[in-house]
Amino acid sequence: MKPMKLVTCGLPYANGKAHIGHLRTYIPADVYVRYLRMAGEDVIFICGSDSHGTPIVVNAEQQGLEPKQLVDIYHQHFQEVFKALDIEFDFYGRTDSDYHHTRTQEIVNRLIDRGYVYPKEIELAYCPRCERFLPDRYVEGICPYCGAVARGDECDQGCGRHLEPGEIKEPKCKICGSPAEFRKQKHYFFKLTGFKKFLEDYLASLRGTENALNYARQWVRSELKDWCITRNLEWGVKFPGEEELVVYVWVDAPIGYISFTERACERLSKDWKEIWLENKAEIVHFIGLDIVYHHCIFWPAMLKGADYTLPSAVVASGMVKVEGKTFSKSRGYVVWVEDDYLKAGFNTDYLRYYMVNYTSHQKDLNFSWEVFRDKVNNELIATLGNFLYRVMHFAWKNFGTVSMDVDDEVLDKIEETKEKILAALNSWEFKEASDAFMELATYGNVYFQSSKPWELIKSDRSEAEKAVASCLAIARALTIYAYPVLPRTMKKMAEFIGVDAEKARLDDALNVPEKIEVKKPEVPFERVDDDKIQEMEELMMDRIRKAEIKERGEIVEDKPRKGEVSNNTSKTGKDAKADETDYISIEEFQRLDIRVGKVVKAEKISGSKKLLRLEVDVGNEVRQVVAGIAEVYRPEEVEGKTVVILVNMKPAKLMGVESRGMILAADIDGKPILLTPEKGVEPGTKVR
Ligand code: 2FM
Ligand code: ZN
Repeated sequence: MKPMKLVTCGLPYANGKAHIGHLRTYIPADVYVRYLRMAGEDVIFICGSDSHGTPIVVNAEQQGLEPKQLVDIYHQHFQEVFKALDIEFDFYGRTDSDYHHTRTQEIVNRLIDRGYVYPKEIELAYCPRCERFLPDRYVEGICPYCGAVARGDECDQGCGRHLEPGEIKEPKCKICGSPAEFRKQKHYFFKLTGFKKFLEDYLASLRGTENALNYARQWVRSELKDWCITRNLEWGVKFPGEEELVVYVWVDAPIGYISFTERACERLSKDWKEIWLENKAEIVHFIGLDIVYHHCIFWPAMLKGADYTLPSAVVASGMVKVEGKTFSKSRGYVVWVEDDYLKAGFNTDYLRYYMVNYTSHQKDLNFSWEVFRDKVNNELIATLGNFLYRVMHFAWKNFGTVSMDVDDEVLDKIEETKEKILAALNSWEFKEASDAFMELATYGNVYFQSSKPWELIKSDRSEAEKAVASCLAIARALTIYAYPVLPRTMKKMAEFIGVDAEKARLDDALNVPEKIEVKKPEVPFERVDDDKIQEMEELMMDRIRKAEIKERGEIVEDKPRKGEVSNNTSKTGKDAKADETDYISIEEFQRLDIRVGKVVKAEKISGSKKLLRLEVDVGNEVRQVVAGIAEVYRPEEVEGKTVVILVNMKPAKLMGVESRGMILAADIDGKPILLTPEKGVEPGTKVR
């Protein structure tokens, strides 16, 4: 018998709403688990909210909430979203629960008892103005490895490395913007350097996606440092014997995989110790590419140190782009699962199919509303939906009950499809699994079309029934094979031909019954219409526009969604849309006072990594303008440059500095590139 499998998903921080980036892990993992179960495997599937660390504390502070209140809100939100998308965990826990604290302290104590933890006095970022130490996301600065702007514990915008406390250069307090100083304090370290050899051997045999394994192997070869595992926070799992310290969130979060397994096993009457202490299960972690270091380096070393079972595989997804741009919540390149997708009323199976079928699991996935429409209309509907409906409808109308005398070639094709699906799962290629059933649907369409049962039935009813039987066998196999990706729709379609897709095994696709009684089918999928897609695109464009304005420090009004009434107008969304054509009149354009200007002075604005203060000669005066260009241009590069400036922009204050005008720039994936006239032009020259 195959060993039991434990499949886990990276724990989402319970500090904000679920977005499409999250789904890149959870949907493929759910699909994988459903396929494994249909292949007869014994699987436990768990996840839960990551409740600790500065991601939670900083957000709670910003929203005027206690950390627990914030976690309560988003823990519930994630559970609702997962339910809506048919992502079904056996247990969904939270790391601020007592059982999780107990397990974390037990493991930390084991590590201490076995001599893997030692205290050391270190220099830590401290904000003299806020009078506190600045753990992790409380501090921002420059990555010592690649020079990118980085958070205190990770170079999130550059090389992706984990940063140890005290490593970050030019630290600034995230709360008040003041430069931080370094102060000494005692913290506790895990002897990660002692695990180098173990990690090299372990990573040589670890299974999973190449993206994760390659990164991890490279990191172990090049750099391993002992790991600071305590933080100055009140919220978290207390470090044994130190009232002022909690364990670092990356110590306790993965222990959630264990504590949640305990709870899941209680429900399922299984023994969690067989999985985590007796090495009797295969443990497979599904994660995003940004947390490979934590899962392939810290986590196995901790497990080894505490003598727990090591994971068998780490499956890391590629990242998500939105409409071809880097995913960014702050810049508006995001799709919120609840507010955008679920509230728009799309079939949840469509998104499941998109997330699995767009590309290989390891590659970057681009979410675009137009591609979404095309994948639904041209693939799900035109190929799969069309075949299922046509065959079932024809069989119901002309036969009612069909004797299942099936062509051997068709049975071979069904078998071959199952083999392809199993092989795809084995190499974590969920796209290939879904391509396999889509190919079977294409084959079915060709079979139906070329055997022409609608003509045959006029001359030879029994030959027509044979053709229909073969097509029905394909349809039956499809409802089973596509169920893990499209559970809602396939469950319904399977019922019309007497299959219980929830209980079916992949092998059942070949166990064709002697007869099938066909019920009158419903159309499986609804088309996604162009107007709806346009509405979704407009919603996103509006969000991007608002994010841009917000970055410039102005007040933004919410645009009403179709059918919604905005806060400050009684117009319905439809009327509002009519007011907002894509054109502006020449008079409107002439209201813009755009001129050529010359930058006479440029300097950094303290506390801001994006803004420069410029003095710009606009012909009749020198104006102060704040421009969000500091990530691309140094002050000395801008001084003396000829630029294009919107002079009658409403004045605004940015970081307390007044800005009277807006410098125009091309937007290259969020990075501004200044516009400049093609030939020498005097400051003040009008642009038209
Ligand atoms: O990066 C994140 O979103 C973390 N909350 C993931 C934790 S995964 C695990 F280790 F618990
Ligand atoms: Zn870096």
